[in-house]
Amino acid sequence: MKKIRKAIFPVAGLGTRLLPATKTMPKEMLTIVDRPLIQYAVDEAREAGVEQLIFVTGRGKASLVDYFDMAYELERTMDDKGKPLSPLSGSRTRYGELVSVRQQQPLGLGHAVWCARAVTGDEPFAVLLPDDLMVGKPGALKQMVDAYAELGGNIVCAMEVDQEDTASYGVVDPGEKKGNATEVKGMVEKPDPADAPSTLAIVGRYILQPELMALLENQDSGAGGEIQLTDAMAKLIGQQPFHALKVDAVRHDCGNKAGFALANLALGMADAEIAPTLKDWLAKNA
Ligand code: G1P
Repeated sequence: MKKIRKAIFPVAGLGTRLLPATKTMPKEMLTIVDRPLIQYAVDEAREAGVEQLIFVTGRGKASLVDYFDMAYELERTMDDKGKPLSPLSGSRTRYGELVSVRQQQPLGLGHAVWCARAVTGDEPFAVLLPDDLMVGKPGALKQMVDAYAELGGNIVCAMEVDQEDTASYGVVDPGEKKGNATEVKGMVEKPDPADAPSTLAIVGRYILQPELMALLENQDSGAGGEIQLTDAMAKLIGQQPFHALKVDAVRHDCGNKAGFALANLALGMADAEIAPTLKDWLAKNA
């Protein structure tokens, strides 16, 4: 079984649900406590053993790639002043660790993943949607990689949602259960609650086999007029093992204002430096 060495980060989205903050700033660069959203996803991928980060970017997203570069003037100045460089450590990449490709048009998540096909080649790969901030120890992708060692094939991260929320997710038609993993018999993108095959929803972490890329190449547009990853993945079912894994992690949907604010609160309360200030304020005001 080939190791998961590569991870795709689809980061070309416009972030319209977070306007005006995202007018000139990629949503993935917005801060949760002390670092941009993208760094959480990158840290999670590295922890899971990923060696190559593939950013699928678009116009106006160059700061995401710059963020992981060396900041020569900053580092030199900090060094001269005797300031520690440790706060910058996760934002540096090894030579060649980061590759970026462009998604020139917003044609959907499936299309974004397909744009990375030349970089993933014939290897299995992970996909991480940075909007879905996953807090777990070990991280969500590491838990999936561990499950992959047993199950092989394709694995989507999944969680139970309320019936009325199925229209916001890809939803799994579940088969046999094996611990935290459930066999996937089918999947539908954003079904009406009345038609949803279950309430087991896909969250933004995937381990996928290279054969998916050929399916994406010919994938027609689906829900919302977009080329959907879910529709192409559904075609692999029956050809390769396909499981949904419930991981031990908390998910924050940082693609909307409430989820974003909540993530800051939850992670802030877990941060030894700022938690006392937050707790004090909440005790007096909440
Ligand atoms: C995407 C996927 C969907 C998945 C969701 C998780 O949808 O298409 O299958 O359930 O991410 O966050 P989006 O939220 O980009 O509309």
